[in-house]
Amino acid sequence: MIQRLTLRQPDDWHLHLRDGAMLRAVLPETARHFGRAIIMPNLVPPVVTTGDAAAYRDRILAARPDGSTFTPLMTLYLTEDTDPADVRAGAESGLITAVKLYPAGATTNSASGVRDFDKVTAVLETMAEIGLPLCVHGEVTDPAVDIFDREAVFIDTVLDPLRRRIPGLRVVMEHITTADGIAYVQAQPNGQMGGTITTHHLIIDRNHILVGGIKPHYYCLPVAKRATHRDALIAAAISGDPHFFLGTDSAPHTDANKESACGCAGCFTATNTLSCLAEVFDRHGALDRLEGFASRHGPAFYGLPVNAGTVTLEKGDPVAYPPRIDSGDGPVTVFDPGFPLRWRVIDPA
Ligand code: NCD
Ligand code: ZN
Repeated sequence: MIQRLTLRQPDDWHLHLRDGAMLRAVLPETARHFGRAIIMPNLVPPVVTTGDAAAYRDRILAARPDGSTFTPLMTLYLTEDTDPADVRAGAESGLITAVKLYPAGATTNSASGVRDFDKVTAVLETMAEIGLPLCVHGEVTDPAVDIFDREAVFIDTVLDPLRRRIPGLRVVMEHITTADGIAYVQAQPNGQMGGTITTHHLIIDRNHILVGGIKPHYYCLPVAKRATHRDALIAAAISGDPHFFLGTDSAPHTDANKESACGCAGCFTATNTLSCLAEVFDRHGALDRLEGFASRHGPAFYGLPVNAGTVTLEKGDPVAYPPRIDSGDGPVTVFDPGFPLRWRVIDPA
């Protein structure tokens, strides 16, 4: 018997599209299957004003394949100079869907992020007033804190105090990698707090990066933790809990920049994400909950309608995805889940 699965068209609530040649190369990989995506603003220089976001949105729309109706949902990169009036105007015009907080120095292109949280209080209060979500990269940058502990320490020392100081601020804890992150988000009121989980963090743990030789294409931030944490992420994703939704954090870097003495952080999963997710949910007997995770919980949090279209997957012989795509700037390796992908998207192909 042929096994098929039809879902409302999914969205990606955390995506890096970059700019220029890389944008043109990676956008079709997401637009093939996804209706919308929250577009990360960590360009060089970052997307900090509503004007920057409008221009970036136009470049994304111009890079869409012919006939694509993919909708980019734009974000602003929060800096200590962000103007609350600009954020309000951007949100009210419908252009801005969220604001992104990077602690300064936490990850790729985060040098202009926030150091002194007092300097962004007025912006956060405006966001709480108008219901605009704050998407948070949840890691402390204190060099004294071990990289594997940075997420858990962030929750206690930054995220929870911040939420107490600005009640009403709606927050998404992005790319959760720990059982601590899952437990924290789960305990907050639904609608006030959400959490995204990436495709790769449902599959790899830290051993994938380090055992049998260093594997730069599994290095991302927040770095994958031990397998017990990965299992907590899977449990949350397949639970049907509406706090949790897909944010792939697909983050393309050229192979030259990944396979280097100081390699960039980021896994490129746009190409095979739906096959990977179907495989994970299938292995856990939870295919009936994939639609909630990939297509329903995100729109509910953001107050947007579910997509009108659908995607259909079919289970059969393993799908051969290209090992890398050409970006114009050089090849970009596609995430290798390390197991066969038997679910293929048949419609839209
Ligand atoms: C992202 C990137 O490359 O922009 N890298 C990553 O490892 N996820 C930045 C980020 O989301 O932290
Ligand atoms: Zn990211």
